[in-house]
Amino acid sequence: MEQESNAQVLNDYVINKNNPIGSGLNSTVFKAKHVDTNKYVALKLLRKQTHDNNISKEMISKIYQQEVQALQLCNQLNSKNIVRLFSHFENCNEYVLVLELCEQSLMEYLQQKSHLKEEEALDIFGQIYRGLSYLQNQKYYHRDIKPSNIMIKDSEIKIIDFGFCKQIIGVDNLKQHTRCGTFGYEAPEVKFGVYEPEKSDIYSLGVVYYEILYGLQNFHSKTEFTYPQEQNVSEQTTTLIDMMIQEQAANRISWQQIGQFLDAIKNTQNIGCHQKYQLDESLKEKYFTLKKLLQDLKKIRKEIKDFPSENLELLLIKKLIFDFESTKLEFEKQKIELEQQLKIMEYDFEVNILELKILQNHSLRTKLNKLIIDLEKERYISLNENKELKLKLCNDYFIKHYNHLNEELFNEQSENFQQNLERGIKEFLTILQKPEYITSDNSLQIKQLRINILIIQYSDKYFEQIKDHLFKNNLITNKELSMVDILDDIKNESIADQFEQCLEKLRF
Ligand SMILES: Nc1ncnc2c1ncn2[C@@H]1O[C@H](COP(=O)(O)OP(=O)(O)O)[C@@H](O)[C@H]1O
Ligand SMILES: [Mg+2]
Repeated sequence: MEQESNAQVLNDYVINKNNPIGSGLNSTVFKAKHVDTNKYVALKLLRKQTHDNNISKEMISKIYQQEVQALQLCNQLNSKNIVRLFSHFENCNEYVLVLELCEQSLMEYLQQKSHLKEEEALDIFGQIYRGLSYLQNQKYYHRDIKPSNIMIKDSEIKIIDFGFCKQIIGVDNLKQHTRCGTFGYEAPEVKFGVYEPEKSDIYSLGVVYYEILYGLQNFHSKTEFTYPQEQNVSEQTTTLIDMMIQEQAANRISWQQIGQFLDAIKNTQNIGCHQKYQLDESLKEKYFTLKKLLQDLKKIRKEIKDFPSENLELLLIKKLIFDFESTKLEFEKQKIELEQQLKIMEYDFEVNILELKILQNHSLRTKLNKLIIDLEKERYISLNENKELKLKLCNDYFIKHYNHLNEELFNEQSENFQQNLERGIKEFLTILQKPEYITSDNSLQIKQLRINILIIQYSDKYFEQIKDHLFKNNLITNKELSMVDILDDIKNESIADQFEQCLEKLRF
């Protein structure tokens, strides 16, 4: 009899009202049995009315809808690391989600085990990352990542609790958002309500990874993320966590880079299981270089936004001119030096240019060439009105950030890095293809940069081939030209197009 009175039927499911398997702020979760099939599921009941004045009926309805929408999307994507939503319904008191039943939460698991070995931790973290990546690819952000929202079923990870999960689309999604998350797991910037959800999810995920390896933390006493040696965690992993929990969102690793890092860690593990993880310094450095590069680009985009006008193209140029102005003092000094040199040579200005162009010393030649070009421009045109100079400034700015990578790649040996780098480069290209970079004024720079990227992608294997190809197509006359020279030679758009076509052909 007693048991009878506890049983409640909701649609086709029977639950024991007095025996919830979990609960949250406004929800209670029950194990439930389907009356026809006898299959077990979890029912998440969201009360429509709350005693909490801070939560309105509308808010609860929105949370419900957000959760249903995100889970339906995950079902479509077939992501096995996200809990399945079988159906949903409502009655006058509550909204009900019919979910795949899981065994226990990661929080409970960590309470039992205190902390996990690196291998198991990496596996769990990888699954959480995979699950959330499905959402990230669709620009959905969970916004409440923590161990009690991560479940385990048959040794597989299932992420739950998508009440705060929302699709946030925009070139730059740094803006005012509802404050979501849980104390201890929320990124520092979330408190102020202006944050990028990708970055704040990364922070929370970093804290979760830390707890998987070092045990659950008491966030009410001051938490310091230290990495005690006795836990035997590899430097690669602590570096990854450290990059995820950076206080400044801008310094945090990106979602995509986490994946690259995980690949790299897995590859190291495959190389030799007896070998203790050794951090490959050059690999690490390359990652940071790439990260810096992408950050710089993001920074340019942000800085441009800070200017009061709407015209991005003009603003980009303004910014470049501003940068140029700040180096002008240095330039003035060099100009005087050069003028003295020119005098000493006792040739007239034009003759000097010709002379200098055939100088054997490459670095001197480029340096002097650049100075002469600047000098010419300074002489004949006003800085603010000259279109060509603006183009050059744009070009320098982009190329400056990319050239060093080009050179480094000639020496790069690691196969694995090449793949990761290509992924990064693709991201870089996507940024460049955004409307603010494609303007009539800087299309040549973008072409040059695309060529640069093509060269970078293929240079380590096909350096000679690229040169041969360009040579055969009469695009370079001297076989000994370096790649930097090739880029220097691309002076107009039609040559750029030809180069690009030639290099594209080489790809297949
Ligand atoms: N599918 C499920 N299977 C088993 N337990 C669950 C399931 N979903 C939720 N729970 C339990 O209920 C708790 C609260 O659920 P959750 O979706 O996180 O609600 P809230 O949004 O209120 O935090 C979870 O921490 C977990 O312990
Ligand atoms: Mg929860």
